[in-house]
Amino acid sequence: RNVQDLAAYDAGELTADALERYIRPDIDKDAVLYEHSGELPVVDLGRLNPQHWEEEAAAKLRYACEEWGFFQVLSHGVPEEVMVNIKRDIQEFFELPLDVKNAYAQTPGDLQGYGQAYVVSNDQKLDWADMFCIISQPPPARDMKHWPTQPLTFRKSLEDYSVELEKVAHSIVTAIGKILNIDPELMSDKYAVQVLRMNYYPPCTSMPEKVLGFSPHSDASFLTILSQVNSVEGLQIRRHGAWVPVKPHPEALLVNVGDLLEIMTNGKFKSIEHRVMINARKERLSVSAFHNPKFDGVVAPVTVTPTEKLLYRTVKVEDYIKHHLSNKLDGKRALDHVKTF
Ligand code: SIN
Ligand code: FE2
Repeated sequence: RNVQDLAAYDAGELTADALERYIRPDIDKDAVLYEHSGELPVVDLGRLNPQHWEEEAAAKLRYACEEWGFFQVLSHGVPEEVMVNIKRDIQEFFELPLDVKNAYAQTPGDLQGYGQAYVVSNDQKLDWADMFCIISQPPPARDMKHWPTQPLTFRKSLEDYSVELEKVAHSIVTAIGKILNIDPELMSDKYAVQVLRMNYYPPCTSMPEKVLGFSPHSDASFLTILSQVNSVEGLQIRRHGAWVPVKPHPEALLVNVGDLLEIMTNGKFKSIEHRVMINARKERLSVSAFHNPKFDGVVAPVTVTPTEKLLYRTVKVEDYIKHHLSNKLDGKRALDHVKTF
């Protein structure tokens, strides 16, 4: 069921029955710490260039990955024009009539295309969102039938954004390798595959506080880079058993550690659970760029001292991602599955 369409009928009179599959009984069980949202670490990527490496910025990145799992990135180097174009085209795409978007509808079993995410059973609760997903890097992995030709500039904006975000991923992964003293060779294939996922969260007039735009989950990726397209809030991250809202920052990109990076760092960097709340009046749009290792590769935990205990098994990337996708999003279940204890 298309959620944008469902939301369009909702002028405040959709009943609990009509929304039954979207209503969550347990949203309010943990506190939301609004006062902590200003504390999310900010990392200045301009100070982590191998030629202009500043220890203070490196310490900040390490702290962000160890203690928060999420951070804002400034001086990311993506040209303003590229950001403006992708944001405009994503917005325009979701505004197209349903039948136009449905020309790109996901086919069963395919991750790419327009539709809803993670529907694995008929009785699971559903997220209040529509999405559109493509594999964007490397170029030979693309399937152009999924790349929309409307709006007219969309393919170019996606291409430009994809290339720029791959550079950002390269810079961050390289900096992480340097901080952890990991062989650059071992880091270089960790962001080989990029998947772009555009999210559209319609408002829910009737019961905004009872539905979720995105169920709590951690990302299977190595590194995720998110842009909050129209600067409407909604994203919350798990912290000390509560939820901390992330304020959209118009100039920054939001980066998070994925499960595969947590595995590679043997648990030192944290892949944090997050969720998306829904607004009563405003739609929200975002685009996640998931950076993953090559699907036929493996990720093994790297230990620092000879006595360090291995917390995770070595995983095959494809198996891990498939396992993650085949489960109803539920906290960190996929990661728990590969723990050694
Ligand atoms: C995601 O977790 O991939 C989506 C986050 C968001 O929409 O802010
Ligand atoms: Fe996510």
